[in-house]
Parts: sequence; structure tokens; C-alpha cells
Amino acid sequence: MQILTTAAEVRRELDKRSATVGFVPTMGALHAGHISLVERARAECDTVVVSIFVNPTQFNDPDDLIRYPRTPEADCALLAEAGTDIVFMPSVEEIYPAPDTRQFAFGALERVMEGEHRPGHFNGVGQVVSRLLEIVAPDRAYFGEKDYQQLAIIRELVRQLALPLEIVGCPIRRDADGLALSSRNVRLNAEQRAAAPAIYRTLVQAGEKASEMDVEQLEQWVAEQIDAVAELKTEYIAVADAATLQPVASWDAPGDKRIFAAVWAGDVRLIDNIAL
Ligand code: PAF
Repeated sequence: MQILTTAAEVRRELDKRSATVGFVPTMGALHAGHISLVERARAECDTVVVSIFVNPTQFNDPDDLIRYPRTPEADCALLAEAGTDIVFMPSVEEIYPAPDTRQFAFGALERVMEGEHRPGHFNGVGQVVSRLLEIVAPDRAYFGEKDYQQLAIIRELVRQLALPLEIVGCPIRRDADGLALSSRNVRLNAEQRAAAPAIYRTLVQAGEKASEMDVEQLEQWVAEQIDAVAELKTEYIAVADAATLQPVASWDAPGDKRIFAAVWAGDVRLIDNIAL
């Protein structure tokens, strides 16, 4: 496994290979969810590239950027074991030689949920993902469905920029108690970690209760259940169309539906979603 830090080195290495390139962009602090993306890329592509870059432009909260876990040695050990060919670990200056002033317009997709609650977040995701895709130029790029809205935004980015690659969405990986794997989970204290599985548990119960109440009542019911758990405070609960991510007013609305949650456990923000 090669560990490279510049775009020129990555290009030089990939230009030597004519094979299918699979790419897994990450911010490091890797867990089994990330590794499942690498394994999928390994199974489907000849060359697997993983980037580790904590992108400052997507953090709307400066403290969140400072506290974001960084474990590069452990990450590289996991990536080597999973059969990664190239790890790209650039500096901020390598990705942004000058401040990135590009403004993306993702329309209604960015006006709800994470976009509404984290202003500027998806613009930063657009900046870094477009830059990484330009450098790596993969045939396929792999993203987890835990960040379901991010996945939709990235599909839209690729459509707008007419980039010739396939975006592959991969299922959420969970701990045995249901908590969605996230790099931020390591920041939970023992009480918060014990409380956090209530998020997924309640979303699953919501699926069972959907026939008993209307959409708004269900969102409220979920928020009440989660807020009743010590250590947890919901930021939003939203039932949305699985394709457009727009709020669903009634169960009779056409299309598949998902339920989304953003919940605080102390100063750690957790998100999750499931199909209804
Ligand atoms: O999902 C993430 O880890 C990040 O948002 C991504 C896609 C690597 C961009 O920084």
C-alpha cells in the first residue's frame, strides 16, 4: 500500500495503471462502516484509492473541526488489511492551494435537514468531493447511506459537473446494539454511548407505528421518545421522500419514504435514517 500526500503523486501512480479505479473518500477515524466501503471497492475494482482528509470547509462549527478524531496510523493499518492500494493523505494547502470560493447550488436538496441545520456544510462537501474526484478520476466512488442526504447531494454534484463515474451508495453499518457506526461515536462518554442506541430503536418502532398516526404525529412521537432518554436531545426528526428528500405531508404521497434523525448526545451530534 502506498501512502501519498500530493495530487501529482496520485496522478503519476494512477496514470501507470489502465485498470478500473474505485475511490473511497473519508475524513479518517476509520471504523467498520468505512472498511465495508473499501471492501466493496476491492471486490468491484482493480485499484482501490482511499483519501483521508478532514475537510475544513464542510465544518460549520469550528469546535467540531478541532474535536474531530484523527487516528492516521490506525487508519492506515486498517486500510492495508482491507487491501487498499493507495492512501491519499493531502494537506489543506494541497487540496486548496487558494481559498475555494466556489458556490454550488443543490436546490431543494440542500434546504432541508442537514442543509437547513448546518449552513454551508454541503457547499464544503461539494468543494472537497469535486476536488478529490478531479484528482483521482475514479470509475466508481463509494459513500455510506448513513449520510443519506450527502449521498443525494454528491449524485447531484456529479450530474451537474457531468463527471464520468458511478456513485455507489452502501448500506449503514451498525454496532450490535443498533447504533450507526460513526467516527464521532468515540467521543461519546459511557452514559451517552449507552443511551445512543435508542435513536435506531425508536426509528424502527416508528416504522411499526406509521399506520397508527399521521406523519407529523409520528415525527413528534419519535422526538418525544428520544428526548425522554437521559443524555439525548433531538435536533430534528423528519419523514422525507427517499429520492427528493422533501418533507412528506401524508402517507398517501407517492414514492418511497425514509425517516431521518439528528440527535445530540452532549456535544456529539449523531445522525441516522431508515427506510419506512
Ligand atoms: O462523509 C465524509 O466522511 C465526508 O463528508 C467526505 C465525503 C469524505 C467529504 O469530506
